[in-house]
Amino acid sequence: MSKVDNLHDLFVMEISDIYNAEKQLTKALPKMAKHATDAKLKAGFENHLAETEDQISKLEEVAKLCDIKFKSVTCEAMKGLVKEGGEAWEEFEKGAVLDCALIIAAQKVEHYEISGYGSLCALAEKLDYADAIKILREIQEQEVATDEKLTELSKTINQKAYKAAA
Ligand SMILES: [Fe+2]
Ligand SMILES: [Fe+2]
Repeated sequence: MSKVDNLHDLFVMEISDIYNAEKQLTKALPKMAKHATDAKLKAGFENHLAETEDQISKLEEVAKLCDIKFKSVTCEAMKGLVKEGGEAWEEFEKGAVLDCALIIAAQKVEHYEISGYGSLCALAEKLDYADAIKILREIQEQEVATDEKLTELSKTINQKAYKAAA
């Protein structure tokens, strides 16, 4: 296989990577919701699952707009992040401390996604994919909002974990 030497192909590779990452998350988020104790955290994971399913459709729309086909790839980075997060309920007792560990895992995922979509937006700009940029920014904003909600939740849940340990 020849090496990638243009931004269009780099864009195809990057969008294929994140498309696979989102698909992995549709399997991971229900498990995270199941193991969460705090009602708001549980609801947050369920809500982000619905958003993630919508993001997959949005990425398919971007592919159509840019006339590209996704490559069949596995996002190894997301696989690793999911695996680490997935180990949380094997290592921690269900409750506030596990909730904290789930938030940490989820925020690592969100930051990975935020940077991925940021790079895709930058590439789409270089390639003049104006309509695609709008959609990619929308997704990125959802990831940022999710990260912020997790930060908010962590404040009350951290407090609960601290009290439980005292
Ligand atoms: Fe996402
Ligand atoms: Fe996300």
